[in-house]
Formats: sequence, C-alpha cells, structure tokens
Amino acid sequence: MANQQGSFLTAIDVGSAKTVALMVEMTDGGLRYRGHGVAESRGSRKGVIVELDKAVASIQKAVESAEDIAGAPVEHALIGVGGAHVRGVNSHGGISLGTRPREIGRDEIKQAVDRARAIPLPADREILHLLPQEFILDEQAGVHDPLGMMAARLEVRVHMVTAATSATQNVITAVNKAGVHVDDTVFEPLAAADSVLRNDEREMGVCLADIGAGSTELIVFQQGAVAYTGVIPIGGDHFTSDLSVGLCTPLAEAEKIKKIYGNAIVTLIPEGNEVEVPSVGDRPSRLLPQRLVAEILEPRARELFEMMRDNLRQSGMFDVCLAGIVLTGGASRLPGIFDVAESVLRRSVRLSWPRAHGQDAVDAIRTRIRNSSRHGQLWPARACSPRPARRSLGHKIESAVSRKGSVSRVQLTSAHYPLPTDS
Ligand SMILES: Nc1ncnc2c1ncn2[C@@H]1O[C@H](COP(=O)(O)OP(=O)(O)OP(=O)(O)O)[C@@H](O)[C@H]1O
Ligand SMILES: [Mg+2]
Repeated sequence: MANQQGSFLTAIDVGSAKTVALMVEMTDGGLRYRGHGVAESRGSRKGVIVELDKAVASIQKAVESAEDIAGAPVEHALIGVGGAHVRGVNSHGGISLGTRPREIGRDEIKQAVDRARAIPLPADREILHLLPQEFILDEQAGVHDPLGMMAARLEVRVHMVTAATSATQNVITAVNKAGVHVDDTVFEPLAAADSVLRNDEREMGVCLADIGAGSTELIVFQQGAVAYTGVIPIGGDHFTSDLSVGLCTPLAEAEKIKKIYGNAIVTLIPEGNEVEVPSVGDRPSRLLPQRLVAEILEPRARELFEMMRDNLRQSGMFDVCLAGIVLTGGASRLPGIFDVAESVLRRSVRLSWPRAHGQDAVDAIRTRIRNSSRHGQLWPARACSPRPARRSLGHKIESAVSRKGSVSRVQLTSAHYPLPTDS
C-alpha cells in the first residue's frame, strides 16, 4: 500500500446512509488516526450508485473534511464494497507435485490457488477476494501455510467473494471523480469483522451480521477462516419506510421517531406512553401510542432474523455458528433488536458497534494490511491508473493535488493476485 502519500492510508466507505473517509498514518506503533470526514450519502443505494454526481459530492465532502483535519491531501484510498450484488462461493482445487513428495514453493501455492479459482463466472461479475480456508497436503487437511512443507499433492480450499462488475466499477468511478485514485476494494463486513470479532469466536464458528441502511451483510467464520458470505436485502431503511407508511408521516420524521422512540419489542414499551407524530401535508401532528411504533417495527425485525436464519440454514452455516451471532451496523442500535434476534435465531447474540465514526474505514485499512502481510497474494490487486483531478473548488490543500488529467476508469484486473517477490 505504499503510495505517493508515504505512510498515509485512507479508506472510503460509501454507505447507503453515510459516506465516511478516514485517514490514518502507519507508524512503528501501529495505525495512528489522522482525520476523518462523514457526509450524508446521496446518490447511492444498497451498495449501488444511482446518481453519480450526488454520490461524487458526498465523497468529496467526506474526503475534504478528513483532509482538513489531517492537514494532508487524499490521493489514494481503499474503498468498501457491499450490497445485494455481492455473493460468496467456496471453491476447491489442487495440483500434483510429482510421484514423490517435494518442497512447496510460492509458485506451487499460486498454481493450486489458480485451480481453485478457475470456476466459470458470469461475464458481469468479478472476484473481490480470494480468501484461503485451508491447504490440504497429501490428504492432510487443516494446513494454514504450506510454504516450505513437503507433499506430492497440494490442494487448497478458498472462499471467493464476487461482486457485480458494474456496481463495483461505478463506486470506483464516483471516487475517481471525487479526485481520489482507488488502490483496492474491500468487502465491508470483512473489514467490520476485524474490529468486532474475537479470535476465539472465529475459531469456534461465528456469524457477523452488519445491519446497515440498505441491506444486512453476513460473514461466517469457521476455524479462523471465512466460510460463507451472504447478503439479506433488508436494512434499517426498511424499518423507517414501514414507520413512514404505518404512521402516515414523512420519511425524515419516521427516521427521527425510530431513533428516539423505536423499539423492536412491543412489550418493552409502557402502556400509556405517547409520541407526537407529524403528519404529511399541512395536517396537524397527532399523539399516538408509542407501542404503535414498536408494533410496526417488531414484525420487520422478526422478518429480518427469520430471513437470516433461513439463509444460514440453506447454506449449511447455521450449525457452524457455535459462538453465536454478532450484530453490528447502524440499524442494530434499535432497542429490543437483540431480544428479537435471540428469540428467532435461538443462538447467543451479542451487539458490537464500531467504536467511532469511520471505524469501518479503519477496519478496512487494518484488514487490508493484515491480509497483505499474511496472505496478501490472495487479494485481487487493482491496476493503478493515473490519479484524476479533484473537481472541488476552494479546497485548502488543492495546491498539493494535481488538477490535470481526466477522470480515470480504473482498470479492473479481475482477481489477479500477485505473489510477493522473494526479495
Ligand atoms: N439509534 C438507532 N436506532 C435505530 N436505527 C438506527 C439508529 N442509528 C442508526 N440507525 C439506522 O442505521 C442505518 C444506517 O446504518 P449504517 O450507518 O451502518 O449504514 P451504511 O453503512 O451507511 O449503509 P449500508 O451498509 O447499508 O450501505 C439507518 O437505516 C439508520 O436509520
Ligand atoms: Mg455499511
């Protein structure tokens, strides 16, 4: 991740609700926070750019706020990718090293991984991550790093995360148009997992559910490796639109009511509590029972966790999650959601929220660094393109930012994973 910015690293998360840019510095003592910016997301929905100019403006706003705090320009960034277009699939492949066992080198590992990833993909999909689960040496499974070991046959199991090429490319284009070159992409829950999951949970088997605004992303770890990724097309915005319709109030008011008075368990709300609910148009606001708010939210919460349970069951992952389910993401802040999750999933559930705004972005960086050093060769790297010009005016650090060149289209390399050189 070395780039023109020396030891600075930036991650950008273009979420459905908020866009976050975060800058950190790599120091001998680890990552040091240097600045972050948050802007309301406009023009992006459920991981897909729907209005490019608005999305670009949100990214610029978040980036400029981060730059102002850090006192340095953002030139390159990692970006988060998520949404219903992301899919995960397990694959398996291997090579024979001859009739007698011989030492396994980097080339052999690369060839085995090549076999594992050689499954037909539709033309409109690209690989985001190739995550090794285990290597199998002469039928001996469970090897984490076969480099230097002896075998006559080397096999590998990998989890491949794929995304719709156009959806990913449009996020890259928006970030490019905001004047930032994209170094790499990270599946958002993979980054979140680095922050909120403990090693013992990953070993035992755990599902992290990132309940965002537009969707809920799932990632299951088993024996320390990613076993499954999936997306459920329900997020916090569905709760808000249910309230908007059910209470006949504008979406913005429904969002406020959800955050202040919302609860996913009706019986946790004392009878007699009332909420002032603004009406649409010029009708006067009304006083409605707070329980009505929960009566609208509870079925949606149940539906979300029933879909999660069915999704995990159908993929054979439900029984893998012996350490339970961890909920994160903005929508998991709804009071009572924990109780609904436990009653539907019948697993131990815990909540774990990012520690601060922009934490997803820190996690993205940490994940990228961790994977770079451990099995970075299995991450698809994107080819570098010339950095496009920042379009914003009046920016304080503009002198440091090149203004020439047009918006670049980052060349998608569809999962080539350069092995580190021996040097
Ligand atoms: N206190 C709260 N109670 C209930 N819901 C909340 C609360 N705070 C935030 N939310 C909801 O969380 C959602 C935003 O979550 P988050 O910030 O994780 O989304 P995002 O990362 O921008 O979106 P996505 O991951 O879907 O692209 C919104 O639907 C918002 O209404
Ligand atoms: Mg998110």
